[in-house]
Amino acid sequence: MRRCFFLKKMVLMLAMGALAAGTGRGAFAAPASVSGIQEYKQNISTQEYEKRYNAVYGKFTGQMAEQGNPADFMLDDGKDLFKKVEGTTGKSCASCHGENGEKLKGVAAGYPKYDPAIKGINTMALQINRCRKENMGAPELKYESYDQLALELYVKSLSNGVPIKVSIDGPARPFYEAGKAYYYMRQGQLNMSCAICHVKYAGHMIRANLLSNNRHHADHWPGYRLKWGKTGSLQKRFRGCNKKVRAKPLPFQCDTYRDLELYLTYQANGLPVAVPGFRM
Ligand code: HEC
Ligand code: HEC
Repeated sequence: MRRCFFLKKMVLMLAMGALAAGTGRGAFAAPASVSGIQEYKQNISTQEYEKRYNAVYGKFTGQMAEQGNPADFMLDDGKDLFKKVEGTTGKSCASCHGENGEKLKGVAAGYPKYDPAIKGINTMALQINRCRKENMGAPELKYESYDQLALELYVKSLSNGVPIKVSIDGPARPFYEAGKAYYYMRQGQLNMSCAICHVKYAGHMIRANLLSNNRHHADHWPGYRLKWGKTGSLQKRFRGCNKKVRAKPLPFQCDTYRDLELYLTYQANGLPVAVPGFRM
């Protein structure tokens, strides 16, 4: 499992003012939360943001998506992969989870979530690779590769329309707080936090872009993005925004990004899962 100790350390120092030495994870297992961060008030409501979005961009992306999202082809390929036998145990995902994934219906609405087996946050992408390795004897898929995104997309699509309901209670709490601390940490040469752009200044223009508020950030990835000319994940978005402020992007599925994904998905609680998304 990938970790990013250095950053975790910075986040902790920011949140607690001091860092108890240890393995990174150890400090997080403590029940004491690392909160104390005063969250900004959302600058604009989701409705107001949508109004501004339509004023700036028109109905362009909506209309394009209606005509067909290029990521739909990837989703179909994901369905085939789900049924494909691979690995030493001679099984496919379908062997255990139902021919059409029946047993995984609605499951993605509860992800990411705390998993005691890894003493941390489990994302859908991570779970799929764990199943490949542990239950199929197949190699893990490279994050952001075509097959990895296709499978993730298919499994998440089995929850389309189901309201997101991630839990931040109990053991999940410190990881949520760590995600929040990262979201509020100033970083990069521009010395800006995620929250400055996506909460405090949401609804403002930044160059040619309208800054979105973060309510709708985690409900529609993987999705197709015109700027990329391809389909990508939520964590690819994290990396892109890290680079925007000239900070170093982190490895996919490292613990900090999984904590961040929990924080952001919690902001989307109650919204239906809607993959694949379609964005500028
Ligand atoms: C040999 C059986 C087996 C195979 C093959 C398998 N899994 Fe799993 N999978 C499990 C078990 C066991 C669990 C954990 C038990 C649970 O949470 O219900 C699990 C859990 C999951 C979960 C989380 C379920 C939840 O309720 O949180 C997902 C999603 C999942 N698997 C997807 C896949 C995908 C995609 C594949 C193919 C790449 C796959 N699995 C292959 C047995 C399997
Ligand atoms: C300098 C301002 C700025 C900062 C700081 C910033 N972003 Fe962004 N972000 C943008 C812009 C511009 C876009 C594209 C327009 C939009 O959707 O807001 C964007 C888009 C996104 C999206 C996609 C929204 C969607 O449509 O689904 C996510 C997710 C996101 N950012 C997360 C983050 C995270 C996490 C951080 C902190 C690591 C961060 N951003 C920091 C400017 C910023």
